Amino acid sequence: MNQKNESAVVESTPARDRVRIFDTTLRDGEQSPGFSMSLPQKLRMAHALAELGVDVLEAGFPRASEEDFASVQAIAKDVRGPTICGLARAQIEDIDACARAISPAASGRIHVFLATSPLHREHKLNMSRNQVLDMGIKAVRHARHLCENVEFSAEDAIRTEPEFLIEVLAAMIEAGASTINVPDTVGYATSSEIYALFTRLRREVRGMDNVVLSSHCHNDLGLGVANSLAAVAAGARQVECTISGIGERAGNAALEEIVMALRTRADHFKVQTGIRTPLLLPTARLLSNVTGTTIPRNKAIVGDNAFAHESGIHQHGVLKKRETYEIMQPEDVGVERSQLVLGKHSGRHALRDRLKSLGYEVDEAQMDDVFVRFKALADKKKEVFDSDLDALVLGQDPAVVGPWRLIQMQSTSHLGGGASAAVRLGHDDGRPVSETEAMGDGPVHAILRAIERATAVELNIVDFQIRSLSYGADAQGRASLTIHHSGREVVGRGVSTDIVEAAAMAALEAVNRVERLKQGQALPLTAKL
Ligand code: KIV
Ligand code: ZN
Repeated sequence: MNQKNESAVVESTPARDRVRIFDTTLRDGEQSPGFSMSLPQKLRMAHALAELGVDVLEAGFPRASEEDFASVQAIAKDVRGPTICGLARAQIEDIDACARAISPAASGRIHVFLATSPLHREHKLNMSRNQVLDMGIKAVRHARHLCENVEFSAEDAIRTEPEFLIEVLAAMIEAGASTINVPDTVGYATSSEIYALFTRLRREVRGMDNVVLSSHCHNDLGLGVANSLAAVAAGARQVECTISGIGERAGNAALEEIVMALRTRADHFKVQTGIRTPLLLPTARLLSNVTGTTIPRNKAIVGDNAFAHESGIHQHGVLKKRETYEIMQPEDVGVERSQLVLGKHSGRHALRDRLKSLGYEVDEAQMDDVFVRFKALADKKKEVFDSDLDALVLGQDPAVVGPWRLIQMQSTSHLGGGASAAVRLGHDDGRPVSETEAMGDGPVHAILRAIERATAVELNIVDFQIRSLSYGADAQGRASLTIHHSGREVVGRGVSTDIVEAAAMAALEAVNRVERLKQGQALPLTAKL
């Protein structure tokens, strides 16, 4: 079945057989360490999620910060297709901010959350059951005045007394919520408990038949996807999830796993989603490139090994009959059988075709730029892989180019005796070029110290990683670095065939964010500690 036909079937599917995919990559996913994104990066991801076919896109938490507000608003303005949702605590100011941020959306939703479990009531909110109930009702009513589409989440629902949960949810439906979300905030439940609870909620909550019941499972025990599927089996018709399962602590349920489980085992679940599954891999790769975090090789659906057959017996079986060892078609999730590798003799057409199959639509001007950089890269390395192309197209985070720029660098390692490095840095304000040298334990250490000296920004590093983007000794390396600065975590990333240069680029990106912070500019890609 081709994509168009599949979407048409989904459109006409009765609501009870249709599971809505609520993506929270840009909210629950983005708020976890290592996955922060700048506004242009979030916008890019949001467009990709819309293309993927998510029904609801949770774009952020507008009251959390000015940057969050701006990105929710920009996504609401720019992205068409999904309902654009913003998160709000059960407080008037949060709800008002959320309503303002989502107002440009063609279809918007306010997502109000309030903790209901005894642990949260006593130790976090310091409120009685009645106070929680009252606060929730007021918040949902207020949200409903501002927006037709209101979701209510009972935070830590799983550890809430079921009778109280039933009372709260019925009250929120009466107050105007049209989606009722039952989160396993701490990833504590087992699948049979989720099934039993959702079955009970459908039976006992007044008004539940007229609203959409939703699951939101965290993955602390590795049960996020299994529990989401148990919720669907018990009648949930919205599933909240993230690309590659990113999110708080061990993450949220992985979107691609839920969607492919529902599709591959349609015989069992008897439901459909509106996801264009061939875009699952390109979307996961985009997230990985934007955030600088590698997809584990053995990750289900989108990992490099997900469709690789190494053992002779398996290879033989798959060649004879694919189904012997494959339950899904690689093409269905966007994996191509033949990995066409480009090189320095590849022309513009071949490059454009490859970029297209990776999900990148580039206009002529962008193509000119990408082609020049492709040729330069192909001169340095024999084979240019898809992951190299991702890095080429995405380039540096557009939110932080300058003020410092790397003009020249040099590094030398001495056997048994450390390393030295020198950098020449320019600054956009036109000050004289800054030239510094430094020693270090190794060339990366030395270059980071030289940058620290040249820019006078302390690189208080809390995390530093260099990973190969593809294969072979000439592979590009991606450096990701996090520093602490003035109570914030600031991130920098760089890609180069020279890992010392990649480290220098990452350090400079972090320094540039700090410079912007000092100048009072919004500081994308940082998190408050
Ligand atoms: O995990 C959780 O409870 C949440 C809510 C805000 C929905 O993320
Ligand atoms: Zn969550």
